[in-house]
Amino acid sequence: MDAFVIRGGRPLVGQFRVNGAKNAALPLMAAALLTDQPVTLRDVPDLSDVRNMRTLLAELGCETQDPPTQFTPPPGRPSPPRTLTLRTTVGTPVHARYELVRTMRASVCVLGPLLARRGRARVAMPGGCAIGDRPIDLHLRGLAALGASVELDAGDAVLTAPRGPGGERRLVGARVYLGGRFGSTVLGTANVMAAATLARGRTLIECAACEPEIADLARLLTAMGARIDGAGTPRIVVDGVDRLGGADLTLVPDRIEAGTIMAAAAITGGRVTLTNCPIDALLAFTDILTAAGVTVEEEPGADLMRATCVVSRDTPLRPAHVTTQPHPGFPTDLQAQTMALLALARGNSVITERVFPQRFLHVAELTRMGARLDHEGPSVVVSGVDRLVGAPVMASDLRASAGLVLAGLAAQGETTVRRVYHLDRGYERLDAALASLGADIRRVRDGQPAAPPAVGDFAPVAAGA
Ligand code: UD1
Repeated sequence: MDAFVIRGGRPLVGQFRVNGAKNAALPLMAAALLTDQPVTLRDVPDLSDVRNMRTLLAELGCETQDPPTQFTPPPGRPSPPRTLTLRTTVGTPVHARYELVRTMRASVCVLGPLLARRGRARVAMPGGCAIGDRPIDLHLRGLAALGASVELDAGDAVLTAPRGPGGERRLVGARVYLGGRFGSTVLGTANVMAAATLARGRTLIECAACEPEIADLARLLTAMGARIDGAGTPRIVVDGVDRLGGADLTLVPDRIEAGTIMAAAAITGGRVTLTNCPIDALLAFTDILTAAGVTVEEEPGADLMRATCVVSRDTPLRPAHVTTQPHPGFPTDLQAQTMALLALARGNSVITERVFPQRFLHVAELTRMGARLDHEGPSVVVSGVDRLVGAPVMASDLRASAGLVLAGLAAQGETTVRRVYHLDRGYERLDAALASLGADIRRVRDGQPAAPPAVGDFAPVAAGA
């Protein structure tokens, strides 16, 4: 199993191009199940989650091709932007098996497309993961509102669309409320919106998730012929159509990868220029960075979702109060990285988690590196310390691992972050990216230097964000 060995203390300096978003890639790939025409996605990150989604889609009759011009980069070099073309050739399988779903919770986003196009879907219930219970009740309620019957059988959710006047199985447009205890649901919104594109009549989704990845999915579905209004706001209206065609779309850049690199520049007192940066989707995060004494400069340009910005810090970090919320609030996926940063602030910060209140497994590991953290319910009081010290630590989920890597970049001495397969799920060669910015970081396998992983060369992963 791979680990990262990091020697901290080097300021990160240089340029980083933000990759396409993982959280856009997965539901957009699943949307290819809605048509038998080719769907081309550009700037798809090279991640184990994307490879897992390809495997799942192949089982469901949807093949993914890479154009022949693409190549695997030499060890340690980032890959060029990747284009995938997906095409559904077999329209009958409806079962997303537990063996696949448990490796990647986001597999649940095939539910809406399968049900809409095939009239039936059988998807293993994903179960909880390191960051919480992760129910899918809102997905099921939303699809039931569109007329689907929902049963549970052997750990699978089995959904069946009602029969229309001609005897065909087809969902029916309806008013759907997607608010839950912790706000809306991102993948639940993706499922209901995708399902509604082929339903009979109009669907109104109230309390929809507003994440930019939902807006990106709507862009793809619209390019495929769907009629959608309001995606990116809490109220989405979908007018069902009879069929969808192919489309070609470049993914929105990954705001969480961008935020992680910004935090890396900040924690090391470096200066990094990010290109293809979705700064417009990161305002809650950059607001906290600024409050903490980090400089974020935007270069003039028309497209704030693909901006160039420079992140630097040359003064001590100040404390800040952070509360995670659904978009456009502070993203839960940047909470662990922000905790690592504020651990080195001069003063006390409070971080409150309102999206996944149990998402604090990194607290114990950061404490092993000298952070002073008091965890009480959904909040952590972070009492800033002068320095962190390197230690062997264990990654527990994707974003928690990123927080540990950031702490390692700033810590005195050597940090070993074990189980980095979590990171490989959602960051494209993070070790290579950080090394290209001057970090002293190397990947080792069982204590030996490791070559970058080849396609499919990943240990099974615990499901997570
Ligand atoms: C997505 C993101 C993940 C991010 C999360 C919150 C992808 C692939 N993953 O996950 O990176 O951390 O949004 O921004 O896009 N909930 C329910 N019932 C449901 C569904 C969710 O109670 O049916 C709760 C969850 O337990 C959680 C909150 O709602 O407390 C938000 O979860 P949700 O938005 O659904 O997260 P995901 O879409 O799974």
